Formats: sequence, structure tokens, C-alpha cells
Amino acid sequence: MANAKKVMTLTLQEMKQRGEKIAVLTAYDALFARLEDQAGIDVILVGDSAAMVLGGETTTLPATMEQMLYHVRSASQGITRALLVADMPFLSFQISTAEALRNAGRFLAEAGAEAVKLEGGKPILDTVKRLVEIGIPVMGHLGLTPQSIHQFGSWDVRARGSDEAERLREDALDLQDAGAFSIVLEKIPADLAAEVSQTLRIPTIGIGSGPDCDGQVLVNYDMLGLYDQLSLKFVRKYRELAREVENAAREYIRDVKNGSFPSKKESYE
Ligand code: KIV
Repeated sequence: MANAKKVMTLTLQEMKQRGEKIAVLTAYDALFARLEDQAGIDVILVGDSAAMVLGGETTTLPATMEQMLYHVRSASQGITRALLVADMPFLSFQISTAEALRNAGRFLAEAGAEAVKLEGGKPILDTVKRLVEIGIPVMGHLGLTPQSIHQFGSWDVRARGSDEAERLREDALDLQDAGAFSIVLEKIPADLAAEVSQTLRIPTIGIGSGPDCDGQVLVNYDMLGLYDQLSLKFVRKYRELAREVENAAREYIRDVKNGSFPSKKESYE
């Protein structure tokens, strides 16, 4: 790997300053985290998308603290270079700042996370401020925040209207002022994402928000073509592994049924 220096939140700031794009992927276990880390990924996000891609749920809402702690701990075992960010699940930070501090602290103390990600703007600013004050780095998340899917009523692009776009601009600046080190911009118009990215000092990480964010994030199972329940315009599939896995399983079933597996070579004397 070209650059093995450990990535810290400050590294991302420096990357933005010198115009170097930040590459982020999700991972939920040690195996994928290790492979992505070895490939040179800058940030690994253990997303609450785990509930959908691994758990088969239709939204991220059922993800629990205990499940996320397990996934973050597992991913941390595979990482030596990337920055590890834990996604705070629904209701782990919204009820009170005290609960948010305790839960975020658990991700760092028990699971090896180096930062946490929280969805939302205005309503969580005090919490973000307190988290940063006690030494827990925070990544924000604006735009199509999946924990609010029932409020939104659809997975459509957000902030197309001028009121919502203005709110997003304000939220982004407020999160920066509260001390967030970076902000995910999910599924907003490319022009708005470009404008926000230019305005902020901290890096933006886009998903479905065009090419002018300071970095990009994708769900690893999406870009590998493993999660085939949804077809998303903004996902580039680098492989079609779902077909590979299915075909491998078919070949195995065939070999077991016709008795060609195991062979003598695959057996003990
Ligand atoms: O849960 C997740 O994986 C995320 C990213 C897609 C940004 O929040």
C-alpha cells in the first residue's frame, strides 16, 4: 500500500486543504475491514445500514447499540490505517445528551471506534458540541438521513426546494461551528453539495451528491454488487459478486449431489 500512515480526523482536514479526495467505504466485520484497509481506504464507516444489508430489514431503524457495538468491534480488528467511524443508531443519541455521551463513549471505549456519526442538524447541535468537548470526534450527516425515512415518506433526493436547501446550508455551518470534523451529504443535488463543500472548512463526504464533495462514501456490499435488493442510480458497481456467490453455491451443491466433492485429495488417510 502506497501510504501506510494512520488516518486521523486531522488527516482528512489536510486532505481537503490540498485537494486530495477522501475515499470512504462501509464495513461491518473484520474480514471486509481488513481487505478495504489493505487496499488503502481512508475511512471505514460501520454504518447502521448493517440492519439492511446484513439484517435484511427495509430501513436502518431496527439497528441497536448492541448490534452496532459488535460490528464496530469486529471491524476494528481488521484495521491498521483507516479512520474507524461508528454510526450511532436510531434513539442512541436523540433522547438526551447524557445518553448520547454514554453511547458514543461505548463505541470508543468498548469497540475501538475513533469517531462517531450522527444524523441530523439543529436538534442535535448541543449534543455534537458536548461530544466534541469531551474528546469524541463527530461526523455529521445531512440530506437524506435514513433514520428519518418515515418523516420523509420516500427515498427521493432531498433539498431540491429552496427552503430545505437553505436549512441544509445552515445546518452544515452549525455542525461545523459545533465542532464536527466532517459531514456526510446524502442524496442532495450536486450543485448544492458543491456549494456547501466550498463554503465549509471541514470536508464533506458525498453519497449520491455529485462529484464535488471532498470525498465519497459507498456501502461496500452495494459497490461489490452483493446487495441486490435495491438498484440505486448513484452506486457504481465495481463487481457483480452476488452472481459469483450464487454460482459458487450452485457448483458446490452439484458436486455434493453427484459425489465429486470431496475427492480423495480433499480427504484424510
Ligand atoms: O449507514 C450507512 O451506511 C451510512 C452511509 C451510507 C453514509 O450512513
